[in-house]
Amino acid sequence: IKEKLWGGRFTEATDALVERFTSSVDFDRRLAHYDIAGSIAHARMLGHVGVLTEGECNAIRRGLEQIEAEIERGEFAWSAELEDVHMNIEARLTQRIGEAGKKLHTGRSRNDQVATDLRLYLRDGIDAVLEALRELQVVVLDVAEREAETILPGFTHLQIAQPVTFGHHLLAWFEMLTRDAERMRDCRRRVNVMPLGAAALAGTSFPIDRAYTAELLGFEAVAENSLDAVSDRDFAIEFVHACALLMTHLSRMSEELILWSSSPFGFVELADAYCTGSSIMPQKKNPDVPELVRGKTGRVLGHLVGLFAIMKGQPLAYNKDNQEDKEPVFDSLDTVLACLRVYAGLVSTLRVGRERMREAARLGYATATDLADYLVRKGVPFRDAHEIVGRAVRHAIESGRDLSALTLAELKEFGPGIEADVQAVLTPEGSVRARDHYGGTAPTQVRAALARARSRLASG
Ligand code: ARG
Repeated sequence: IKEKLWGGRFTEATDALVERFTSSVDFDRRLAHYDIAGSIAHARMLGHVGVLTEGECNAIRRGLEQIEAEIERGEFAWSAELEDVHMNIEARLTQRIGEAGKKLHTGRSRNDQVATDLRLYLRDGIDAVLEALRELQVVVLDVAEREAETILPGFTHLQIAQPVTFGHHLLAWFEMLTRDAERMRDCRRRVNVMPLGAAALAGTSFPIDRAYTAELLGFEAVAENSLDAVSDRDFAIEFVHACALLMTHLSRMSEELILWSSSPFGFVELADAYCTGSSIMPQKKNPDVPELVRGKTGRVLGHLVGLFAIMKGQPLAYNKDNQEDKEPVFDSLDTVLACLRVYAGLVSTLRVGRERMREAARLGYATATDLADYLVRKGVPFRDAHEIVGRAVRHAIESGRDLSALTLAELKEFGPGIEADVQAVLTPEGSVRARDHYGGTAPTQVRAALARARSRLASG
């Protein structure tokens, strides 16, 4: 078959349906820039070791650069008959420069080529994620600084537990995002290994210099084993895993924002620019952005499971199954970047309902533990203190008041050791101020943690 790059041993044309079915160019053309960079490096290496003449090597390089420009101008005619991005570009190269173009594929296979392309693509993708993550982290820290003293009721079981500061809560978000960045950087080390030179699976009989190609492409290492080089997609799974976990974090943050911005809570208000209205209910202002982020988390998690399923049954080395790895990887990257970017604006424009937060903390008996701790300091064993305060809370609930509204005389009935200084520990401010240790919610500790966070971010 004449028009196929692999047509030599075929006598029948590919079925039209099969041609469409096996073609990946609609999505893998996204790799074009990296495919061209990989091909130029490969050709230069072939020139370096004397497999190609200098003239051939230069012609290939110039031809590929022109093709890249064609693609950028949107003038490149992608063809499904040429199956994928690799053969589209190679065929066009030969069309442009003639004989030398046919020599590009010497000592190479699409199997090591596609693995190389995807790794180069992901290396840049990870760098973009790291940058977007950092931007969000800066925003989170800025808001945390502004809200270092703002009282927020902390929850366990979604029941009001103890007061914290809103700044402290945001620093918890910061830690989640910091681990995401660490995972991305760790993943990048294993992405940045070069498969090229493995050829189809066994290596090549040409005297290639893989270290030379790796150096040109900025790879930190060369894959050790040719079979592993073409069949491994761990790096893709790891990347999508890091994306899924990052999205899980954004999803949990979203859940909090949705809850906090609901009218019964009123802890925060999302800026109008980040909400939409209802087509029927005129009063509505819906938190679509965090809801969509929460929804898109399911999609990225699905990609992770999908990739695992693609890999689990594959014997070594390359199998066409791997063509299915691209869309989940691309979509995970797109989704994570879009969510991170929209989130930075969402958080920076958040309006904080400080009074509502404080009121909720005050009314929620959130300082009951502080009263128990107070009794312990007066010599009461903690278990007894717990029981005493429990009775005081029940009394407060029954009389429709919060703990700090009980009079000293009332409190003394429950705990004889209670004195006038108790009032200070019953306020949310007193409660957070008392949690004054490394990692605690006292505003002084929040400020210290903020300073550490900023310097970690600067050195990360
Ligand atoms: N389009 C293929 C992929 O995405 C490229 C490699 C094809 N190799 C092969 N021997 N069919 O994996």
